[in-house]
Amino acid sequence: MTNNEKCVQVCQNRTCRKQGAKEVLAAFEASPVPGVEVKGSSCLGQCGNGPMVLVLPDMVWYAHLQPSEVSSIVEKHLLCGQPVTKMLYHRFHVQR
Ligand code: FES
Repeated sequence: MTNNEKCVQVCQNRTCRKQGAKEVLAAFEASPVPGVEVKGSSCLGQCGNGPMVLVLPDMVWYAHLQPSEVSSIVEKHLLCGQPVTKMLYHRFHVQR
């Protein structure tokens, strides 16, 4: 990963898989963005809030992500640098 690159980690461990993480990973893979690596990860330590996604190096977490929501993350966050507030993980991103 170079300085300009992002990495989208989509948890593929047991609990997130049960909540649909495979489809979320497939949705990211179907919308490749230059300079953004997408990969399945091991448990991100937030089981039960899945599918969990962590965007690095931004340290932005998304929880309960649905495949239908992936396109807005791709368009707003990965292409325009604006995290999508609605799906942020409340534990690490306090909503005001
Ligand atoms: S199984 Fe996904 S965070 Fe633990």
